Amino acid sequence: MTTFALATEKSRFDCLIVPLFQEETLEKQVKELDALYDGAVSAVIDLEDFEAKPMQSTLLYTGDKNTVRILLIGLGKKKSLTVRSWKQAVGAAVISTQGKKFTKLAIYVPAHVKKEFGVKNAAQNTVVAAERASYAFDNHKTEKDARVKELESVHFLGIDGKEKRAWESGADAGEKLATAINNTRHLANTPPSTMTPAFLAKAAEKVGKEFPKVKVEVLNKADIQKLGMGCFLGVSQGSELPPKFIIMEYMAGGKADKPTVLVGKGITFDSGGLSLKPGSYMTDMKFDMLGAATVLGTIQAAAALGIKKNIVGLMPACENMPSGTSYRPDDILINMEGKSVLVDNTDAEGRLILSDALSYAKKYKPKEVIDFATLTGACMVALGNERSGLFSNEEKMVEKLEASSKEVGQQLWRLPLGPEYSEAIKSEVADVVNIGNVGGRGYGGASTAAAFLEFFTKDFDSESGEAAYPWAHIDLSCSYYSGKGKPWVRGGANGFGIETMISYFS
Ligand code: BES
Ligand code: ZN
Ligand code: ZN
Repeated sequence: MTTFALATEKSRFDCLIVPLFQEETLEKQVKELDALYDGAVSAVIDLEDFEAKPMQSTLLYTGDKNTVRILLIGLGKKKSLTVRSWKQAVGAAVISTQGKKFTKLAIYVPAHVKKEFGVKNAAQNTVVAAERASYAFDNHKTEKDARVKELESVHFLGIDGKEKRAWESGADAGEKLATAINNTRHLANTPPSTMTPAFLAKAAEKVGKEFPKVKVEVLNKADIQKLGMGCFLGVSQGSELPPKFIIMEYMAGGKADKPTVLVGKGITFDSGGLSLKPGSYMTDMKFDMLGAATVLGTIQAAAALGIKKNIVGLMPACENMPSGTSYRPDDILINMEGKSVLVDNTDAEGRLILSDALSYAKKYKPKEVIDFATLTGACMVALGNERSGLFSNEEKMVEKLEASSKEVGQQLWRLPLGPEYSEAIKSEVADVVNIGNVGGRGYGGASTAAAFLEFFTKDFDSESGEAAYPWAHIDLSCSYYSGKGKPWVRGGANGFGIETMISYFS
């Protein structure tokens, strides 16, 4: 664990990170720092070796005993500062100093950052950015030297006496958030032969042990059969590993308040099943449980932060594997509410397991339901891996989710639901079919998948087919980086969604 604290006169650092704005004169405190180190910062700027363009960086040697090195990092123009750009700069600076094996860091926080984001918020986002950057999934490397050196400490400069309390409270919240985020990332990065449905259930139980307010219940195959979750069971039946339906209840809100139910896709490995994925498409399919891991991390963070809301997490977890016992294209599965589903392609499995979870959610009479799923390749094709897809007909939820994501520097992009997509998943032989297109093979794939989920959010007892609850679906197209990652966060799972949800609940 990294310790975070305000710098004192006695603090010694391997490296002081000084973020600077482009085309600005140095602010008062930076001028003071500069003077302390015999003009080392201004000399580089005067030489025009460093212009503070976004992500530009330069390492300086000060000759000072306590602060041996300074890393200048560019923030770009002052007017284009966002939470996102600030976090990227902090993350990139941390990763580049770790690359040099520095473990005791200091970060100077510019006055403009505190003014724009508020002191507490600035602290929280800075700590999250630093902790997220410092995480590396390298515990499987056998040579210790080849692993990233853990950050020992980060001290903050530029926080005055009046701001101390707000800063410390934000930093403390940031640490709790980052712990949950990195836990989610680690679960998702764990190889799929280890990260089984039972292993994921154990991870949820571990959260329950740490936070007694989180009640965890794991339904086994027999319970799932009793509930009649035929779609979930169908997907799981090709695997040697039994499915688990993981329930986390965190009821810290008012007794009479209906809960927000979070649903997460927990496919611990998606081979495609009998509709087998080609080899190159199967890479990264360990991440197909990121919906469930995001829900787990959100509840962990909510409990750690003591958020006063009622939140329920539902995580159907299983593998999608090809074998003699696998479900087959042309099978017809029966969801727990008795609705029939034609299987056209066994690789469209996420929506099947989610259909039973969305039905199960009705028992809570929820205030709202939000599901998280690495549901479609089509969403990644549409948006790339820096935005996730948002689907909902509830304008208030959309507004709130968009505002919450912006507050923490994450990106959601709304994609459509609509009658053409709902029409596309109708079947001649069953109530719905698990793939559909609008206008051509694969066309509108993210929206037809969302329309499939939407079907199961209906109140089937109401004649007009009203929704049983307000619902939003997030297709996690930006939840992991294949291969090497970005300058501000290493490759693998990135923890997307947890901060957005915590901001949504706060
Ligand atoms: N887990 C995948 C979606 C996915 C693909 C997520 C790539 C992240 C990266 C999902 O189960 C799937 O296989 N979807 C198919 C649906 C198709 C068969 C209609 C897809 O997107 O190709
Ligand atoms: Zn699939
Ligand atoms: Zn999948």
